[in-house]
Amino acid sequence: MKAIILCAGKGTRLRPLTFTSAKQLIPVANKPVILYSIEKIKEAGINEIGMIVNTENIQAFQETLGDGSNFGAKLSYIIQADPKGLAHAVSTAKDFLDGEPFLMYLGDNLIQENLVTFVKDFEKEKLNASILLTPVDDPSRFGVAVVNGNTISRVVEKPQNPPSNLAIIGVYIFDSSIFDGIANIKPSWRGEYEITDAIQYLIEHNYKVQGHIIYGWWKDTGRPEDLLEANRRILENVKHSKKMGVINGGTKIEGHIVIEEGVEIVNSVIRGPVSIDQNSTIINSYIGPYTSIGKNVIIENAEVENSILLENAVVRNVGVRIDASIIGKNANVSSIDKKPKVHNFIIGDYSSIKLG
Ligand code: TTP
Repeated sequence: MKAIILCAGKGTRLRPLTFTSAKQLIPVANKPVILYSIEKIKEAGINEIGMIVNTENIQAFQETLGDGSNFGAKLSYIIQADPKGLAHAVSTAKDFLDGEPFLMYLGDNLIQENLVTFVKDFEKEKLNASILLTPVDDPSRFGVAVVNGNTISRVVEKPQNPPSNLAIIGVYIFDSSIFDGIANIKPSWRGEYEITDAIQYLIEHNYKVQGHIIYGWWKDTGRPEDLLEANRRILENVKHSKKMGVINGGTKIEGHIVIEEGVEIVNSVIRGPVSIDQNSTIINSYIGPYTSIGKNVIIENAEVENSILLENAVVRNVGVRIDASIIGKNANVSSIDKKPKVHNFIIGDYSSIKLG
């Protein structure tokens, strides 16, 4: 079985971060989201993976992941020039898939459960499609499936009156019959070729379509608050590890923290779980739980918690604690020491600033 990972969307809900990075490459606990997905796919015994990317982000993916040999996968890059929907993304991979069954994974999804039985059951039961489902409190935000035993009798995209609480979370297995479904659908009201419409076609034409329900944690990291929640979840399980950093001058470290090479911490309190990537410097500061600090970050005279700071960010002399924030690459947050006391902003398009 092969796999495809869909990473060709626009990521509008994560602007401005997605102006300079694909959302799947944004790090959570200092590891790009996409690497968690690749690990899950590999754990299920699949090594040959088609990365569906767009013309703008292909280079960044290739620079980060290469041909996959560093982590035991064989990656091919497939361009979906215009993100016209999930079904359209699948159709761009038709040659790569070459008639084989395949696992389809939305690249911004994080799931806890392993996919081994999902794959095995698909093969054992000789299914045409198997869809990963999970019960949710707010089904109208998702594609939803109605099941009868394991069989799916209907799927519906973001229903106003949900017929079930089983959300389609973004991991699927199909055989080549999905291409019959895709060939027979039209764009939805939002102008996209929906994979749910292609699945509904299979159901109506008596293909074997089953649901596979999981109960573990999962997250679609499409919005800033989702990234922060994913960061908290993953940091919860970090093990204490310290590589070569320099920690001195009255620094106090509590709880689990990961400190990578070249980190310098002076006269600060670090309360884990916290992850600090290479060559970052923390001086006279408090770093609170659930904070991930990327490479070459400087934090001085500041308090930061429950936040993600990307590489080369600088936070200096900030009098109010920074909480639940994502600070992008090379961004600078600092206070002005001279009078008059003013706010002075140079903020990218679609940025959000909430003053305490
Ligand atoms: P979405 O999160 O639904 O779309 P998006 O990435 O464009 O983000 P936004 O809604 O904030 O603008 O996409 C889910 C996943 O599927 C994501 O990893 C991107 C991918 N995708 C494609 O590869 N091709 C597509 O045509 C679409 C719509 C999404």
